[in-house]
Amino acid sequence: MAQRVQGTEDLYGSYMRAWQRMQDVARDTFGAYGFDLIETPAIEQVATFVHGIGESTDVVRKEMFRVYSGALVDQLLARGSEDALKAKQRLALRPEGTAGVVRAAVQNNFVPQGGAPVKLWYAGPMFRGERPQKGRLRQFHQVGVEWLGASDPASDAECIIMLMRYFERLGFAPESLSLSINSMGDAACRPAYREKVRSFILDHAEEMCADCLERAELNPLRAFDCKNAHCREVMADAPLAPDNLCDDCAAHYAQVKRYLDEAGISYVEDPTLVRGLDYYTRTVFEVEVEGSGVGAIGGGGRYDGLMELEGGKPTPGLGFAVGFERIALALQGQGVELGGEEPECVYVACTPDQREAVFSAVLALREAGIRTEADYQGRSLKSQFKQADKFGARLCVVLGPDEVAAGVATLRDMSSHEQVQVPLGNLSSSVAERLN
Ligand code: HAM
Repeated sequence: MAQRVQGTEDLYGSYMRAWQRMQDVARDTFGAYGFDLIETPAIEQVATFVHGIGESTDVVRKEMFRVYSGALVDQLLARGSEDALKAKQRLALRPEGTAGVVRAAVQNNFVPQGGAPVKLWYAGPMFRGERPQKGRLRQFHQVGVEWLGASDPASDAECIIMLMRYFERLGFAPESLSLSINSMGDAACRPAYREKVRSFILDHAEEMCADCLERAELNPLRAFDCKNAHCREVMADAPLAPDNLCDDCAAHYAQVKRYLDEAGISYVEDPTLVRGLDYYTRTVFEVEVEGSGVGAIGGGGRYDGLMELEGGKPTPGLGFAVGFERIALALQGQGVELGGEEPECVYVACTPDQREAVFSAVLALREAGIRTEADYQGRSLKSQFKQADKFGARLCVVLGPDEVAAGVATLRDMSSHEQVQVPLGNLSSSVAERLN
């Protein structure tokens, strides 16, 4: 039997409805803040991710699924190296949505110099070659937003407020949501801070794991996220980002917090929150659900240098993304079924000689927008009723020879088993009346 790829899931039934609901609530919630839907390709040039996410990040170095056409694989095998490939031949499945949206904004000039900010949201599959476990997949689904052209701290605060409202509207108990924030500085103050952390790690080299020693050179701030408990203990004394901000970044961070306070959003300042993607500047944030055991359900931040890294004019930006699979798990833990009930439907049952009458009744009901099921396997009337129950039908329309001869249909309420006869001529309106 063919097998699903490890770390991927099939979305169907209530799970699929849950994913659709996440998108519906996103459309409503983000729409009120002026965000429009964008869809960028799931496949981009590797360069888009290397420039944006950062060459030294785990996501780019270890987790990105690279994509080659069959013909190219043959060439690569023959050559034994991909060095001669052109940039447009080096492709990858997107590990996240931000780099692609920013690439699209640069390529299509969404934010002309001096133009108004652009607000975009997206929903779709992302791909990371991580070790699959609960809430960690190789193909997962994100809903995200990107706000390009806004530098005011009010936009950071509004973004966070919108994210928290989104979680509440999905059904999370507000007190279970734990929001962490931090400021990582900018091009003016981050290089010096990075250097301080690098020196700190090297000063404690004997106590740190080999990965952290590698991080010291490549990406020292990631040492704050080391899985090794001893490294984390050592890093507890490392210099912290908020203590090393330049005046502008410190003022920006203070203003973001004032706005959050004014909006009544509770948060925890986590000076070690560094996030796994290199493009962040200034504000970063993450949300976890207490007791859910699935890690962050969403995260994001500001990335004022990203448009330039993708070849555009200097343009500030910020955004966040949330993970569908983790949200579904965390909501389940709170007894909330995001997928809800199956949609209401009507079942048209008949005796075998009335199959043609069913055909027109089903057609008329569906034309009226009523979800309608019928039998296509020549089942007995009794087993059609059973099937109607399985479909969760609220009503059954029964068409026997007597009904059809008299130009009527019997409507059977599936829970009370009450039956009434209605004229076949206005079947749709009689059914619609009873469904409402
Ligand atoms: P991220 O923190 O890497 O940020 O991912 C956002 C969310 O996607 C995570 O909080 C998590 O819920 C979910 N997620 C990430 N990896 C996996 C996985 N392997 N399996 C299941 N869920 C996962 C970003 O992707 C940024 N692009 C967010 C952003 C937008 N920043 C600015 N704009």
